Amino acid sequence: MNPETTSVNRLPMNNLRRVLTVSLDGEWNFQLLDNPNEEPSRRWRTIPVPGLWTMVEGEQPFGDKPIYTNVQMPFDELPPNVPTNNPTGIYEREFTVPTSWVNKRIVLSIGGFESVAIVYINGVEVGSAKDSRLAADFDITDFVTNDSNELRIKVIKWSDSSFIEDQDQWWHGGITRSVKLYATEEVFLERFYATPNLLPDNKTGTLNIRAHINSINDAPIENYQVRVRLAGLRSLSKTAKVIARNAPQWTEKTAEEQAAGSEYFLGTYWDGSMPKAKYEEFLATEPIIPGPIEFDLKIPNVSPWSAESPKLYDLEIELLDPNGGLVEMSTVTLGFRRVEVIGNELLVNGQPVTIYGINRHDFHPNTGRVMDREYMRQDLLELKRWNFNAIRTAHYPNDPALLDLCDELGFYAVGEANIESHAFQNTLCDDSRYLNAWVDRVARMIQRDIHHPSVILWSLGNESGAGLNHRAAASYARSFDPTRPLHYEGAIRGNWTKNHDLTDVVCPMYPEISAIVSFAKSKKADRPLIMCEYAHAMGNGSGTLSEYWEAIHNTKGLQGGFIWEMWDHGLNQRLEDGSIRSAYGGDFGETRHDGTFVCDGMFFANRSPKPALQEYRQIASPIEFRAKNAKTGRFEIFNKQFFSDSRGFKFRYEITVNGKLISTHDLKIANIKPRRTIAIQIPSKILKSGDGTGERFINFSIQYALSTPWAHTGNEVSTYQFALPSKPLPKPRLEKMNQAVVDQDGNIQIPNSVVPPRLTLWRAPTDNDLIGHISEKWDGWGLRDLVKVNCKISRKSTGIRITNTWKTGTGIKLKHEQFVETVANGVRITEKLQLPKQLNDVARIGTNFEMNGELDQLVYFGTGPFETMPDRAIGKVHRWNSPVSDQYVPYVKPQENGGHVGVRWFSLANRTNHGIYIQMDKPRMVTVTPMRSTDLADATHNVFVQPSGNTVITIDAAHRGVGTASCGPDTLAKYLIKPGTYKWSWTALSF
Ligand code: GAL
Repeated sequence: MNPETTSVNRLPMNNLRRVLTVSLDGEWNFQLLDNPNEEPSRRWRTIPVPGLWTMVEGEQPFGDKPIYTNVQMPFDELPPNVPTNNPTGIYEREFTVPTSWVNKRIVLSIGGFESVAIVYINGVEVGSAKDSRLAADFDITDFVTNDSNELRIKVIKWSDSSFIEDQDQWWHGGITRSVKLYATEEVFLERFYATPNLLPDNKTGTLNIRAHINSINDAPIENYQVRVRLAGLRSLSKTAKVIARNAPQWTEKTAEEQAAGSEYFLGTYWDGSMPKAKYEEFLATEPIIPGPIEFDLKIPNVSPWSAESPKLYDLEIELLDPNGGLVEMSTVTLGFRRVEVIGNELLVNGQPVTIYGINRHDFHPNTGRVMDREYMRQDLLELKRWNFNAIRTAHYPNDPALLDLCDELGFYAVGEANIESHAFQNTLCDDSRYLNAWVDRVARMIQRDIHHPSVILWSLGNESGAGLNHRAAASYARSFDPTRPLHYEGAIRGNWTKNHDLTDVVCPMYPEISAIVSFAKSKKADRPLIMCEYAHAMGNGSGTLSEYWEAIHNTKGLQGGFIWEMWDHGLNQRLEDGSIRSAYGGDFGETRHDGTFVCDGMFFANRSPKPALQEYRQIASPIEFRAKNAKTGRFEIFNKQFFSDSRGFKFRYEITVNGKLISTHDLKIANIKPRRTIAIQIPSKILKSGDGTGERFINFSIQYALSTPWAHTGNEVSTYQFALPSKPLPKPRLEKMNQAVVDQDGNIQIPNSVVPPRLTLWRAPTDNDLIGHISEKWDGWGLRDLVKVNCKISRKSTGIRITNTWKTGTGIKLKHEQFVETVANGVRITEKLQLPKQLNDVARIGTNFEMNGELDQLVYFGTGPFETMPDRAIGKVHRWNSPVSDQYVPYVKPQENGGHVGVRWFSLANRTNHGIYIQMDKPRMVTVTPMRSTDLADATHNVFVQPSGNTVITIDAAHRGVGTASCGPDTLAKYLIKPGTYKWSWTALSF
């Protein structure tokens, strides 16, 4: 098939729930051929449907394996050609048509397949379709018999459409979504488009209904009627009829009939002022092909839909015969809301809502892309728990159930068309052979999803340039659905002021913070800015999220964005020894691939959260606490929501001293209206409660007041912490110098240590360090291999000064000093480093040492309980307990992990509660893990990292931010480590 042919005999999109349905999911016969021209053999095996042959419960039983590429195509051919070796799956099963379906029209619906499906019934070809992410329906009435029927679906992996499905994810082959049959009467509702809207009064809903009646066997459809009514609102019902009319040919028209049209034709009313009656007279002389019906409804006093308050209505739809007899019925669920772009704001129901969004692919670690409704529901519930309110269906229409769930649970959605021609992004969009595909994919997506209130923007696809094909598709989208603005990143790439016809929002990917602010403040900002992708969540990254949001929350015209992305797409792959690893590009033996780049989510592949989500939860919190004057107990609470008051939440607060809980209290406050702030005063008695030394904090907790589908009453929504005036911890007293704490080689002897304290400037490169070419500099400087080349020890009665010279792997020399003093039960170490000019971007400046691995119980007073990093530092400063092994964060490609910024002190104990307590001179980043950075750096997958057997400690005087340079900006300058003098001090006490 050529690119012009997008389908043969494929029906228009069905978006109605059909009453008479039979699922064909289950075990099918299957065989995999080498190419589409090969004849199937008699050797059948079985496969689940839906099911990809590249991914059956984590296995590849048929030989063809997943391939991961991002931009590049997995083969050399140029569009529209594909390799002759083209895996082709033959799916086959028998079915019988229910006896009650006699005389009915029977439709086969294939929910999704990659990338071409050809359908045969009883050996006869029925039709074919491309577009892997929208259902293909075929009328099979004339192909089925009363007996058993043989259904064969031939699925071809590579086709001309692979070039426009070049999304950054695994390439698979097979059937991804359910296959079913449904039946209708001879006369049936073929197309149904309900477009809901809301008038500016925010109370009156409107519905535009477009329906199309059709029939088989030439059954007449004239005077059939469509009746719709909103469930529960019986009075709101409307009926319209199918009209058919033959009109005389021009030469047969009477003089009056000809005259009726002439004024319309001659431009007499060129300004559009032709009286309605005259216009209708003219129309009456025109033929009408029966089928389409269109009407509007107005519904007073609706409760508007928003992501905060997703009020839904059921629209009952009936097809009636000319005598009013019921032929067919269905329902669609919809909500009333209004989406507009006015100036540089995107308004939902008149409000410039904030988009706390995430990009979501269809992904499952065991089945590739096959999932059911419950699985999708769990995704969305999990996202709700982290305060997300928007989804971009990157980069294609998802299973229709996903939008049903977005409607129900309350997510704004960007509905994206299945178009990505990334490898040839600047050419295919202007290639007329692909014009049909472009328009068809956008049009069919909108036809399928038009009634979903959650969809607030249509996206023309992803990374496909900006060309003629886009213009045609955009024009269709705008005419077919004038109620939703358009979104398309390709339109503004490189220049945020262009292509207003292709996008109504400026939706860049991975922009710098300074760029979005400078755009929003410029005179050229005539559209709202919502980042379609940002904060590339690869590995230990997601740095500077809080700075992005500082800018967004405080700049008009910046309305948020969609984090890239929800998932690590690590596929569960069984290894020879039976263990499972999370596989990335190359792990299935593919030679052309893009490696770890497929693992870049806020969630691991099993949907467990990564530490960055903890910070995000506070950023996206619906309620915000601010300190007016923490010292005197004056705080403010801001309801960030646009439509809901604060009654969904309750509040508690606690006072802690040195990480110990002193007291907790309910906070009773007045109801806060949307976008309003109230002031609160914490009683001074409580504020000052708890004596003793150590830092004091007040922690506010926002909790659900009522249970929701994603949380129980009392579950935490987010927390805020503010420092209160404190008395410092006493400093350990100096004692008479014990000269034995430093040996003759200048090694400091810390009880229970197995490797003495040494200087480190390196970390196990994060994905951002590697892909962003940051760790290349460290390699160039030889930072990993720092060796002590000289050491002078000067012993005095007040302390021992150790002056070290370190040399990097490439010979750069560093001067480092350790001054050791004795305190009761331990030592105080004060260090100084002169970081030379040349080393202008090191990973860290820190002290690294190893303790006996029996010291495996960690208590620390710092940010946690999850990993925090200098540019991802939001966390609660508290006293946290954890086995050292739990500090490990299993990033797919092992890298530096498990650190905590703002650590004041920590202790390590063995099982008999003996060990070491370390107090810092000021809050510092501390990492305590069972792994050495070198072990992490050298391992390819998390399951291959071996714990060192020791407890490895790093205390950092400075640690570089992590940024998002694997795709996007590096961290900000303030998180870089610049040359100069660094001083830090820590005290280690045995207990
Ligand atoms: C974008 C793209 C995504 C993904 C991301 C990087 O360019 O739209 O699909 O590739 O970058 O992970």
